[in-house]
Amino acid sequence: MPAITLVGAQWGDEGKGKATDLVGNRVDYVVRYQGGNNAGHTVVIGDQKYALHLLPSGILSPDVVPVIANGVVIDPAVLFEELRGLQERGVTTERLLISANAHLIMPYHRALDKVSERFLGKGKIGTTGRGIGPTYADKISRAGVRVQDTFDPKILRKKIELALNDKNQILTKVYNRRGLDAEQIIEEYLGYADLLRPYVADTSLVLNQALDEGKNVFLEGSQGTLLDIDHGTYPFVTSSSPTSGGACAGAGIGPTRITKVIGILKAYTTRVGSGPFPTELLDEQGEWLRQQGGEYGVTTGRNRRCGWFDAPIARYATRVNGITDFFLTKMDVLSGLERIPVCVGYDVDGERWDEIPMTQTDFHHATPIYEYFDGWNEDISHVRSFDELPKNAQAYVRTLEEMSGAQISAIGVGPGRDQTLELRSLV
Ligand code: GDP
Ligand code: IMO
Ligand code: MG
Repeated sequence: MPAITLVGAQWGDEGKGKATDLVGNRVDYVVRYQGGNNAGHTVVIGDQKYALHLLPSGILSPDVVPVIANGVVIDPAVLFEELRGLQERGVTTERLLISANAHLIMPYHRALDKVSERFLGKGKIGTTGRGIGPTYADKISRAGVRVQDTFDPKILRKKIELALNDKNQILTKVYNRRGLDAEQIIEEYLGYADLLRPYVADTSLVLNQALDEGKNVFLEGSQGTLLDIDHGTYPFVTSSSPTSGGACAGAGIGPTRITKVIGILKAYTTRVGSGPFPTELLDEQGEWLRQQGGEYGVTTGRNRRCGWFDAPIARYATRVNGITDFFLTKMDVLSGLERIPVCVGYDVDGERWDEIPMTQTDFHHATPIYEYFDGWNEDISHVRSFDELPKNAQAYVRTLEEMSGAQISAIGVGPGRDQTLELRSLV
């Protein structure tokens, strides 16, 4: 059986948690392959709401093995806090597997993330302040601390001392902050060894064996295509590869294993943090979308920036991820609009672009060219089949499908597990 990848098709918060939970009873493994606790994935089951940051959404499905793979960066304190929170709510968590190769977020990563943002002032990225960027930077510069290092006190000590030689100079001399105490960090992280040990596994081996045995492996992306370090709106991106290519490197499985790529696409657009966003609405319509859609960050509580659907972005996501199916979420939020604008291209300094401009300078100058579609007034949150949707809602879905370049296989009409129209089986 295949591996299936799920990716955010916009700037994150498209509804990946809900989509993953929906297929939870049909898959055997749910794997996080990149990012860390910058993510906030919401799952609503009956009257229970869960906000997951580091754990795969599959942890809420009793028969799924949740996996934190090598490409994820782990803040151990957050991990154990999140596990404890779920255990207190009666969720069983022993099945969790964690890659020995995953990198650890260290206290100096969090400190550097916060202080470098403060120094950027107006030019800040608007990060979640969780230490994600500095942890991936250390990984790439071969100075990172991995899960397995907690099992070797000598190596752990050496790595932390070496890192602090450098980081403390930066914290004190560049940013005028207090340096961090190596002994305290060594002691804290050595303390995680016994807590981590029961979960740690060669997750790449486990996943490949599972695929050989005909099991279903579901790779749950976090963030989104336009936050990708290579393919996003750089530098206003996260420091990992949320796109489908990142799933292979981040989980240690080959691209030939992946048979389906599901793109999660909101029926409009949101973004948290800084950076270009052509269809952003800075007026009362943006506020209306924010309130209707409950667009407030799950991780930082920040207001999400809101705007209309952007078709070139959806097409771009199809292209760079090889999306085979879209899950269109939050259709219910658009009820009550007389007409719905959809961005079909951009005006860039007087020139028309039908695709995302090649350079960031041009993308910063892009103003949307809209086509307008008739809206609907009906509350659609109780609808359970495509045919029951108002005709104009059906037409809106079909238009988005045509513009996005891949079939829309599921539609979200509310946050609940059952508030989904599955037009064809997602798994
Ligand atoms: P993720 O980061 O991609 O998992 O998305 P978030 O959880 O950050 O944000 C999506 C929000 O929309 C959550 O509050 C979900 O409960 C909610 N949601 C997901 N799908 C739908 C939908 O179809 N309709 C409505 N109204 N809410 C949805
Ligand atoms: P989920 O998985 C939305 C954004 C931050 C910031 C940029 C860099 O819930 O969709 P970072 O802390 O990663 O260095 O911040 O990326 N960002 C997200 N935006 N949803 C997320 O995750 C995000 N994770 C990071 O707001 O603009
Ligand atoms: Mg989110």
